Amino acid sequence: MVTQMKHLLSLLEYNESAFVKVLELAEKIKSDWTKGKRPDLLPRKVLGLIFEKPSLRTRVSFESAMMQMGGNSIFLGTSDGQIGVRETVADFARTICHYVDAVVLRTFSHATVVEFAKNSSIPVINGLSDQFHPCQAIADILTIRQAFGPKPGKTVVFVGDGNNVSRSLAIACALVGYHFILSGPKPYHFDKDFITLFSKRFPNAVLNQSADANDSVKNADILYTDVWTSMGQESENEKRIKKFKDFQINDRLFSKAPKHCKFMHCLPAHRGEEVTGSIIDGRASIVFEQAGNRMHAQKAILLDMILGSK
Ligand code: CP
Ligand code: NVA
Repeated sequence: MVTQMKHLLSLLEYNESAFVKVLELAEKIKSDWTKGKRPDLLPRKVLGLIFEKPSLRTRVSFESAMMQMGGNSIFLGTSDGQIGVRETVADFARTICHYVDAVVLRTFSHATVVEFAKNSSIPVINGLSDQFHPCQAIADILTIRQAFGPKPGKTVVFVGDGNNVSRSLAIACALVGYHFILSGPKPYHFDKDFITLFSKRFPNAVLNQSADANDSVKNADILYTDVWTSMGQESENEKRIKKFKDFQINDRLFSKAPKHCKFMHCLPAHRGEEVTGSIIDGRASIVFEQAGNRMHAQKAILLDMILGSK
């Protein structure tokens, strides 16, 4: 298929042209799907989903994607999916790869995904870890291309936490030539390790960080946010609500963005915290197209990785 990639852990596995090919494949799959076409592209293939955390979009879109392409899926949730509890991560990986054709992992620690992939003879797809959410970012870029066309040079402003979603989005933006701004309280900007990794991989990319939300949004084509407290950080919730209170996307902040600006959110949203209902339900919001695009993007990822790894 298009990339010859073995695993998808962070998006850093892609080069620019392979990334665009996956997006184009997703666009073709979506266009066929809207015409009612659901060809058996992965007949009798089985996807394992091993999730340490809850999920609506990632789980259901991957499971539906497999069924619509003639395959099937097996979900291991928190009772069976606690990788490294009943047996080591390596033993889990070396066993399950005899039963299924690829796995999607959702973990607390990114190290678990890396360790699993090291021991897996089948493709491993990161369905969210504490560090990265690559499948989300692919669907995000697909959504932006459908709203604005495929040209580079867009400005994506993420107002919020330097977390898994914003890290992956920053990488995805660099892969397609978009400018990326993270706007949030300074202690929650991207950490040094990520900035070093990013700058080494994308020396010419535009990535800025700011603690001034009003200034950051001025040239935004896309305003994006995510929850202030991610899964696994619940004990920090009260502190985070105080720190992020000036970084809510509301009518006042949105009015400072250009007229054509669109609003995106990976969901689930905490209405009244990072975003108001007036914005998420407003005219500029494309959050449900974005959520829908998860399935089309993931079909492209699955085709690329399952067929490409043979
Ligand atoms: N955006 C996202 O990954 O949603 P879920 O947590 O519901 O899968
Ligand atoms: N940053 C959020 C994303 C959820 C899709 C979390 O990790 O909980």
